[in-house]
Amino acid sequence: MKFFVDTADVAVIKELAATGLLDGVTTNPSLVAKVGRDFKTVIREICEVVPGPVSAEVAATDYEGMVAEGRVLAGIAKNVCIKVPLTWDGLRACRTLTAEGHMVNVTLCFSANQALLAAKAGATFVSPFIGRLDDIGLDGMELIREIRVIYDNYPELTTEILAASIRTVNHVKQAAMVGADVATIPPAVLQALVKHPLTDIGLRQFVADWEKTGQKIL
Ligand code: G3P
Repeated sequence: MKFFVDTADVAVIKELAATGLLDGVTTNPSLVAKVGRDFKTVIREICEVVPGPVSAEVAATDYEGMVAEGRVLAGIAKNVCIKVPLTWDGLRACRTLTAEGHMVNVTLCFSANQALLAAKAGATFVSPFIGRLDDIGLDGMELIREIRVIYDNYPELTTEILAASIRTVNHVKQAAMVGADVATIPPAVLQALVKHPLTDIGLRQFVADWEKTGQKIL
């Protein structure tokens, strides 16, 4: 499973990239607004830090506008993945941009049929939003399960399932269990994945016992 981080904060991305576990980055207009910096500069900086796909979302909602903006974003760096919304215009733009050789992430996916359309439009990634479905009392993980079944039924559909709107460490575990190809994870959740109280207790004990031996490895 690939790990992407869901943020536009370059300093945080640098810190997480140092773990060697980061396969890519996703941003969206809300995350860009949160950092309050120039969008294209931020995307350029992120692409220099992380060699994997970096999703940058178009602002236009019409086909021509999305294609034009997508081309500009793709020109920033080779690893830019153009993000378009799951609308008819977005799907058309996806088809055009992937035919030109660009990576495309079709976002705001809330149903299995939408994911089927994204795959048929040649999307590199589809982003089902788990947390936002949970927010309205539905089961976000069930959507990932359904998309997995559909994509596995048709091997010619090569779109990767990018589990998005992840809010908890359990979302990450469940997405991995049901076969999401990628999880895009908020920094705090990514950092929390390593935590376990028994690891901390066990390590403290090992360090104390090692000191008692009086030995050194180096
Ligand atoms: O990048 C899109 C997605 O991850 C947003 O998550 O928490 O705003 O629903 P959230």
